[in-house]
Amino acid sequence: MRIVNFGSMNLDHVYAVDHFVRGGETILSGDLTDCAGGKGLNQSVAVARSGAAICHAGMLGVGGEPLRALLDEAGVDTSLLQPCAAPQGHTVIQVTPDGQNSIIVFGGSNREVTPAYMDETLARFRAGDYLMLQNEVSNLPYALKAAKKWGLRIVLNASPINDELLGLDLHGLEWLVVNELECMALAGVQEVFEAYEALKVRYPEVGILLTLGGDGSISWKDGEEVRQQVYPAQAVDTTGAGDTFVGYFVGSLAQGLSRKEAMDLASMAASIAVSRPGAAPSIPAVSEVRARLGK
Ligand code: RIB
Repeated sequence: MRIVNFGSMNLDHVYAVDHFVRGGETILSGDLTDCAGGKGLNQSVAVARSGAAICHAGMLGVGGEPLRALLDEAGVDTSLLQPCAAPQGHTVIQVTPDGQNSIIVFGGSNREVTPAYMDETLARFRAGDYLMLQNEVSNLPYALKAAKKWGLRIVLNASPINDELLGLDLHGLEWLVVNELECMALAGVQEVFEAYEALKVRYPEVGILLTLGGDGSISWKDGEEVRQQVYPAQAVDTTGAGDTFVGYFVGSLAQGLSRKEAMDLASMAASIAVSRPGAAPSIPAVSEVRARLGK
């Protein structure tokens, strides 16, 4: 069984700020760091660092070469990346002293993914292989339909949430990964646990993995619920922590670990990532995660 991730790759421009800029306000930033990011890229790196093999598919635009280099260095298979003339996707990220972030994403090359490229890519995989998706590339609805046709096990991280995603038929996913806001938006319910219950009822065949920030995470599949605590960390930069969690979760499942073990490793990996600056560069190797867990 193989894993392919059809996902975004961004050049993250990370600005250190005292507080998030408000409407009409101009603020000074004390520091600027450029690093690799994108929900897709971060999740692929996390899968690779969890010890699983992964192939990343996506559009490499102008200025994106450092992102390919980072994926290569992490051991991600980049042979299916497609070049394009659009500027590489990038972000403007504000990070406050307590590690919280606020992100603007410019899609750029990530919005050039075509149905033809998806077909070509997915045809290389077989029923039962994992397909990871997030909501930062174009033609997500097409990807879902095509992947269902090929019998791939789809893990959809419903992030960032938008109207297009709210309108999608999510039946047939292997896993739906959501945070609290995404969970409530998808369910159309204002309270997170009611929303979680509503999604379980609406999509009984879909595994639901709900991340709850400092309250850990909870998952439901095949009639079994698993809860996971968070491992406390001194937050330096929370960017990419959710991606680290998703990548470790999928990578660990693909290596045959139980769901409980996968969530435990994912939780510790995310906690380590939070304690370091940047998105992809902050994702730890599995040896470090296991050492911290004493496993
Ligand atoms: O989830 C974090 C990521 O979201 C950042 O790396 C940024 O690129 C945005 O896509």
